Amino acid sequence: MSIRFTVNGADREFAGDGEMPLLWYLRDHARLTGTKFGCGGGFCGACTVLVDGAAQRSCLLPVTALAGRRVTTIEGLGAGGLHAVQKAWIEEDVAQCGYCQAGQILAAAALLEQKPDPSPADVESITWVVNAFNRDLPYNQFLIEQISGDLLPDATQDQKVATGFLRNSMINEE
Ligand code: FES
Repeated sequence: MSIRFTVNGADREFAGDGEMPLLWYLRDHARLTGTKFGCGGGFCGACTVLVDGAAQRSCLLPVTALAGRRVTTIEGLGAGGLHAVQKAWIEEDVAQCGYCQAGQILAAAALLEQKPDPSPADVESITWVVNAFNRDLPYNQFLIEQISGDLLPDATQDQKVATGFLRNSMINEE
């Protein structure tokens, strides 16, 4: 039996092992390698994608659970250009090593879609994003100073919201 769903707006049909994690489908079958393998156990968030707009760990989600659903990966976020979170990410030079950033960006985008003005508790609910901004590192202290400044004078409202989210995620770690 084949399973039908969409990935980044394109129709997909999969007739293989339905227990295959979505992560492996995306990387090995769809050749969308922006979604990364980290822990493989649902802890790190590197593999996060959106399913019907909600952040999901693709390493834990079998393809069989996707029937009729809509998957968005980092390659499909902001289909008409960069998403506001991606723009803020670039403006603020957030990436560090960059390995986990696709999952971080998608989780941030999903949260902001649900709650444009998230509370500290909302931000803490995606704790691996908070952990990504380890304040013990001088580099991140520099980032905090950067983002605290008025660095985006021409930013759109969406970019300002996204930048505020990034700033809050760091401040909440204090
Ligand atoms: Fe770590 Fe999926 S690879 S949560």
